[in-house]
Amino acid sequence: MKLWGGRFAKETDQLTDHFNSSISFDMRLYKQDIIGSIAHVSMLGKQNIITTEESHAIITGLNALLEDIESGTIEFNEKMEDIHMNIEALLIERIGAVAKKMHTGRSRNDQVALDVRLYTRDEITTLKLLLKDLMETVLNLAKQHSETIMPGYTHLQRAQPITFGHHLMAYFEMLKRDYKRLTFSFDNTNYCPLGSGALATTTYPLDRYDVAHTLHFTDICENSIDGVSDRDFCLDLLYSLSTLMMHLSRFSEEIILWSSHEFHFIELDDAYSTGSSIMPQKKNPDIAELVRGKTGRVYGNLISLLTTMKGLPLAYNKDMQEDKERLFDSIDTLKMCLPIFTRMLATLKVCPQNMYKAASGGFTNATDAADYLVKKGLAFRDAHEVIGKLVLYCVTHETSLEDLSLDIYQSIHPIFESDIYEAISLSTCVKGRQVAGGPSPKALANHFEKATDFLNQC
Ligand code: ARG
Repeated sequence: MKLWGGRFAKETDQLTDHFNSSISFDMRLYKQDIIGSIAHVSMLGKQNIITTEESHAIITGLNALLEDIESGTIEFNEKMEDIHMNIEALLIERIGAVAKKMHTGRSRNDQVALDVRLYTRDEITTLKLLLKDLMETVLNLAKQHSETIMPGYTHLQRAQPITFGHHLMAYFEMLKRDYKRLTFSFDNTNYCPLGSGALATTTYPLDRYDVAHTLHFTDICENSIDGVSDRDFCLDLLYSLSTLMMHLSRFSEEIILWSSHEFHFIELDDAYSTGSSIMPQKKNPDIAELVRGKTGRVYGNLISLLTTMKGLPLAYNKDMQEDKERLFDSIDTLKMCLPIFTRMLATLKVCPQNMYKAASGGFTNATDAADYLVKKGLAFRDAHEVIGKLVLYCVTHETSLEDLSLDIYQSIHPIFESDIYEAISLSTCVKGRQVAGGPSPKALANHFEKATDFLNQC
């Protein structure tokens, strides 16, 4: 019989059991459920709501059950609907009537809210470690390439010379914000809903602070209705993970472009690439593509739960059972994407000569040529026009600014001198950009220092 069967004259239909049940996916909350129950029952004992002996008997039973679940000897039952009732039914089966006191002063509504918060907290901690690994890898690679010149792009057109290290550190900043968002998610998750009951607490003298303290929460959820109906903490995490995936997806897109024959800025390690079943020459960036592709499901999970929540009257509604698969899927996806992305990045080979060639060919030094004229006394707008004319000359004659003779320079404007070549060399262009946040190795060294400080505090 169902644990709530008393009021019912008839058994539920099999279809109802199947449709209603969440055990197939919430079974992963078994540990959080048991830890939460232990904290609850120990408080019930302390508050003399049940006797100390009863509390001890239940706790011993729960610990034994936890061990058996972990060793894989327990089978859950769909008829028992969810992890909460499965565990309670198993406990009654094992230790008898005393187990029926476990649910005193509690509802599945505050119980599930507690379990999901405990689970989310643990997973955020794991995700932060994985993200930190990635950030360290990005920083290490950037340090190796603080002088590797490559073209910087706008509109995917060559724009100005930068270094590969500078480019990578843009991703470091994105990931740093992601890390902070995970911390924010953790902080919002870290409030204890237990004691909210179904929605209006209970008449038993529960000590909610004791449970919150035992389970290392910052505080209790202040309002019992909010305690059982809030899923903002899930949404915060789903949003944080969506933004993180967006960053990984942009990074993946660049890795895919860079590893193409046309760019050939990098080569992926064989261990993190795949071949084609028909074309023998192919080496495909499947990992980067899959990370980019999986971004869709992570966004979908966020929109899905936002939509589930949008019309719900207070307090608990069964709709909220839909939170778990969405949350779990995003967490699982990031737990797969982060480590493989890190390894793909750590093992890729950089081709500095190809990056340099690309930076030389596309007039990336045209702004510097204009700035050269400004230093000689021209107004920037006039300088812009002079260099524009020179670029047009180069385009029609299929040459580049660095290959033009001084005669040609001087035929367009007499102010040019032979120091123009040094002024527009790519390394001068990069080294000259010493403004904080810029590509010069000096500016970059400051960024590395701050990035290292951040990682040390993670
Ligand atoms: N399996 C349910 C869920 O995941 C647990 C809470 C059920 N509460 C209820 N009153 N039916 O949301």
